[in-house]
Amino acid sequence: MDSSSPVTLEKIISLCKRKGFVYQSADIYGGLNGIYDFGHLGTLLKNNIRKTWLESIYTANDNIFLFEGSLLGPEPVWKASGHLDSFHDPMVDCMNCKHRYRADEIDLEKACAHCGKKQWTDIKNFNMMFKTQVGASQENAAVGYLRPETAQAIFINFKNVISTNRVKMPFGIAQIGKAFRNEINPKQFLFRMREFEQMELEWFCKQEEAEHFFEFWCQKRLAYHASIGIDPAKLRLRFYEKSELAHYSQATSDIEYHFPFGWKELEGIAHRGNFDLSQHTKHSGKDLSVYDEETKESSIPTVVESSVGVDRLFLTLLFDAYEEQVVEGEEERIVLHFAPNIAPIKAAFFPLSKKLNEPMLKIFHAIQKKGYSVQFDDAGSIGKRYRRQDEIGTPLCFTYDFDSETDHKVTVRDRDTMKQERIAIDHIESYLKNHLTKKE
Ligand code: GAP
Repeated sequence: MDSSSPVTLEKIISLCKRKGFVYQSADIYGGLNGIYDFGHLGTLLKNNIRKTWLESIYTANDNIFLFEGSLLGPEPVWKASGHLDSFHDPMVDCMNCKHRYRADEIDLEKACAHCGKKQWTDIKNFNMMFKTQVGASQENAAVGYLRPETAQAIFINFKNVISTNRVKMPFGIAQIGKAFRNEINPKQFLFRMREFEQMELEWFCKQEEAEHFFEFWCQKRLAYHASIGIDPAKLRLRFYEKSELAHYSQATSDIEYHFPFGWKELEGIAHRGNFDLSQHTKHSGKDLSVYDEETKESSIPTVVESSVGVDRLFLTLLFDAYEEQVVEGEEERIVLHFAPNIAPIKAAFFPLSKKLNEPMLKIFHAIQKKGYSVQFDDAGSIGKRYRRQDEIGTPLCFTYDFDSETDHKVTVRDRDTMKQERIAIDHIESYLKNHLTKKE
């Protein structure tokens, strides 16, 4: 078995379309740049990403509370958080062809890549939040913004969370939800989108503990990515220079992945100090401090945040799992080596002939009832069916043949090794369970 050409963004986009992982949103109307929909397999994969993230947060610490905030927030929230004044990218237009660029991503000494002319406008700051009006009448409508990060919803409802949950520091509030950024240049498919999903943990602790927890969460988050099968050799932690820090951050480390287009941020871990809670205290006039029973004093907690995009992680998993293999004496196969906890479909069930559909459907339904995400396929040769499952990363395929009628066994085939063995029908569930939970 030989591995052939390297994975590219084009190959991943093509696979996503072909197999129905991801669709261009509003495709029949020409689409919207940087906005995508997810099909059956994409939705299953996203669910697995969310599930494993939550499990990893819960197992790292018991003191975690869940939260689901609203997507729209009134203007004062974004004034206080600093997003209204500081959440912008530098933008420049070509005066000749009107093409728009992020000024920090091109060389302004060179000509426009679109039209070949060198006629740049001045650099302007472009705020990336989506602004809208809330309320029916134009005159009385309040200005609202779609949230550019999920975190602020946690900070502005912090008082309610602590008063309803018997909270003791240190503790965390975890949230999964959509965020919106009017990126000047959405690009690289799911890497930089205008509507995307974040998984954020805001960890509240005492100021003097923050450095320890910053390191703690960096290590935990790095371990998470390895636990969902990402090659550790393609992951690294990068500590930010002072000049790179966001307006709210005292220290930041990125978990970077080695994409085909270079080392790029996959997740950010930030020491936010008490910037957000202090700002919201100041702007709302509400006290957001926490009373400490031990010291008998109130103080505003310090926050360590971890933040990762579901969609960016989705893309990372695809890049990491993708392989084109040349198999001796056979056609090249495309295989996704998804870890079992991430694979959208856990097993596929094939009757060798349509005449055997009934007994195989019975087995398939019994496994499905146990809560496994499985597929039944009776179309084409067994070889073709294997290839279809390899391409979507299904770890195991079970085949029911004419011997199964008498020996009460099926053939099970492993996606990665392509090895086959005969196992008793009664053992299918335990075999599947063992395979899905086994540690490499
Ligand atoms: N609350 C902190 C925060 O939002 P960020 O570094 O701007 O920090 C965190 O975003 C994560 O969200 C990134 O590491 C990335 O995984 C994801 N993300 C950010 N912008 C994105 C975009 N335009 N498209 C897809 N994912 C994005």
